[in-house]
Amino acid sequence: MKRMKYQSYYSRFAFLMLLLSAVGFFKGFSQPGPITRMGSTNTISFDEGWFFQRYGLQPDGTRKEEPSGLENTTFNDAAWQKLKLPHDWAITGPFRIELEGSTGKLPWKGIGWYRKHFTVPVTDAGKQIFVDFDGVMANAKIWLNGKYVGTWPYGYSSFRMDLTPYIMPGKENILAVRLDTENWDSRWYPGAGIYRHVWLVKTAPVHVDHWGTYITTPQINDQQALVNVAVTVSNQSQQAAKAIAQTILFELDPSNKPTKKVAVTKETIIDLNAGERKVVESQATVFNPKRWDIESPNRYVAQTTIRMNGKVIDTYYTPFGIRTLEFTARNGFLLNGKRVQINGTCNHHDLGALGAAFNQSALIRQLKMLKDMGCNSLRTSHNPPAPELLELADKMGFLVWDEAFDAWKKGKRKNDYNKIFDEWHEKDLKALVHRDRNHPSVFIWSIGNEVMEQQNVELTKHLVEIVQREDPTRPVSNGYNDPDGGRNSGAATALGLMGVNYFFGQQPKWDADPRYANKPTIGSETSSCVSTRGEYFFGSKDYQNWQISSYDYAKPGWGCSPDEQFRTNAKYPHLLGEYVWTGFDYLGEPTPYNSDETNLLNFRTDPDKKEELEKQLELIRKNNPPSRSSYFGIIDLAGFPKDRFYSYQAHWRPDFPMAHIFPHWNWPERIDSITPVHVYTSGDEAELFLNGKSLGRKIKTPGKDFRLVWDSVRYVPGELKVVSYKNGKQWATDVVKTTGEMSKLVLSADRSVLKAGQDDLCFITVKVTDKDELMVPRSHPLIQFSIEGAGEIVATDNGDPTSFVPFQSHERPAFNGMALVIVKAKGGAKGKFTVHAKSEGLTGASIKVESK
Ligand code: GAL
Repeated sequence: MKRMKYQSYYSRFAFLMLLLSAVGFFKGFSQPGPITRMGSTNTISFDEGWFFQRYGLQPDGTRKEEPSGLENTTFNDAAWQKLKLPHDWAITGPFRIELEGSTGKLPWKGIGWYRKHFTVPVTDAGKQIFVDFDGVMANAKIWLNGKYVGTWPYGYSSFRMDLTPYIMPGKENILAVRLDTENWDSRWYPGAGIYRHVWLVKTAPVHVDHWGTYITTPQINDQQALVNVAVTVSNQSQQAAKAIAQTILFELDPSNKPTKKVAVTKETIIDLNAGERKVVESQATVFNPKRWDIESPNRYVAQTTIRMNGKVIDTYYTPFGIRTLEFTARNGFLLNGKRVQINGTCNHHDLGALGAAFNQSALIRQLKMLKDMGCNSLRTSHNPPAPELLELADKMGFLVWDEAFDAWKKGKRKNDYNKIFDEWHEKDLKALVHRDRNHPSVFIWSIGNEVMEQQNVELTKHLVEIVQREDPTRPVSNGYNDPDGGRNSGAATALGLMGVNYFFGQQPKWDADPRYANKPTIGSETSSCVSTRGEYFFGSKDYQNWQISSYDYAKPGWGCSPDEQFRTNAKYPHLLGEYVWTGFDYLGEPTPYNSDETNLLNFRTDPDKKEELEKQLELIRKNNPPSRSSYFGIIDLAGFPKDRFYSYQAHWRPDFPMAHIFPHWNWPERIDSITPVHVYTSGDEAELFLNGKSLGRKIKTPGKDFRLVWDSVRYVPGELKVVSYKNGKQWATDVVKTTGEMSKLVLSADRSVLKAGQDDLCFITVKVTDKDELMVPRSHPLIQFSIEGAGEIVATDNGDPTSFVPFQSHERPAFNGMALVIVKAKGGAKGKFTVHAKSEGLTGASIKVESK
């Protein structure tokens, strides 16, 4: 069996040097406080106090002339909208039926200008001043005090701009940012604006460069781990400099506080000419290393200091982890020597009703749900994620497939990445790898998703080489929807890991082909089942009123049900696992009500299916459905699990006792009609009871059945109960009951205490219930929300992919018995507030929230 070990090996000499350098280890270093992020300690949030104005295409489709000179200091921006970042200018809508469903029917195209007035103290003269953007959509151009600083077109990359040449310490400075989404196309809702955080960084002229640390662990065993610290030091001064770099390693607790000091590198002397940049390497040994793992995501942090003339002039933190990765063709993936089946989900970057504007608490909510389902890996489809996603993955124990592009030189749409590929692909790849390569969660790099040139050997090699040059410790993959083409051409031989989207049919052939027999392979995209929460259609009908039945069989021509996918996976147990398309519903791409012809690319080698799909697309174009968000999610856009959630939970957490019955049992029009009852359970058999009477016991055939089906149940109102068994013992139960009339609203919050000053959000679920608090499944009453006290409503949602009610609305109908209201403390300040929900004819409800 061939194994690919992603570790490099250092000489025994280096090891010895390192032990010697540990002498003097515990001298003279003070215990640091919690760290905010990777980078220099002098990094401050730059999110507050921006002015915004939109030109070009307006929300209503008209145009507003963009005047010239908006970057100038003399321009008066007092009338512009004042806001705090992150900001997505398009999420306020309105939804417009004539806009593309593929990008969410939201008016995201336009020209956006942001300006920020700020001062830095006179004492900053002589410092280097940078602004770090985590992500700006798209085509950013940046000026300081009317002087052009630079550009970064790709909206998903993080990047740094050096403000030093034009900054005026002690005076007012104006930073201006121009964005242009008119010259950008997307297959999903990309959002628009400065939608991630921005930071101001001040350093000495001699300092650790941007993303200037690279930590690897070339030797790991239970007794010790050798940690290699490569530091890029930059001298931006006019004179030569002699500096000393040294790194101390600490354990890092979940609150980001460095705790126990565990190792120190020796001091390295660096001689730098004016304007020079150099990499220095040193090592340290961590004894009895605590491995980073999915179950126990232990982290360390490296504190690197740069000293000159006996003074510390820069301190830089790099969180990292100690773990081994092995990718095998015959035995899947091994983390720290143990096989881990990849139970992953693909996700886009939007956060539902919040749009693309990044919010940490919204992402934590999502990740907790995925964890609860048994998901252990995230694919950042199809672009670099917010940096916080990786920090959370490190902390919570997710492995990450970190992806760069959805297009290379040939676009799928007109203004795709193809427009900038030649000039930017290397810079964007470097930005991704340099930013993310210290994260223990990142285990695979992906250079693309279903790109048009997936059979191109040269291009594939070229991109792989760039990534491997910047980080040889992880394999590079690519998501193929023409895996046979990719392998036939030989392009896939350049990869460390083969990514197959959907088309597994030829797998046995490739497993036998000498070129690929030793190539580890993963299901980089799977299933693509589509459904709407709480909708059930009968007979063989899956589609109705732009909704999709939740019996979990519906899928586009290239997809399959979760059950079918599990069966496929069982056929290829040597593959690493799968990434389901998708964990959450997302804005845009409302397949099968999506007229976007890029769907045809999935059938580039199958003319019959292509023709069939072409006809469907024609019909959709004619009908112009109101659908504006996807149906692919296992969890809906509002964050409410669909039935499929329990299919994955049953399969991915076999030791977690659970059973889930569907559909709901409110079918007054179906008395005596056949109404199939399905059950997902982690047990191996189950018995169903209707009003206390057994409808029989069903047993799963291992590898074949992933749900238990009673398909001849005749509906009578009452109670359905399932009792599931595992190894002959009772394991789990679930009950659904026919409910009474809607009577009241019941609220529950994901948290009642918010952290002041941290953009913390509280997600409140509303259930429409009968008098006994049973959720009434087919209810859609209009709900009004209000707040008393120091809070505000951020957004509302209900998971309906066809709703055109703006996400900012304070009233919204429930969708199949549920709605969501997202609230926060006013200005993020401390204070108490009460959220009220009411609906005509129903008893309303309130919930108290405190921000401390
Ligand atoms: C894939 C594609 C995804 C999404 C998905 C829908 O082919 O990579 O981005 O479009 O299909 O099933």
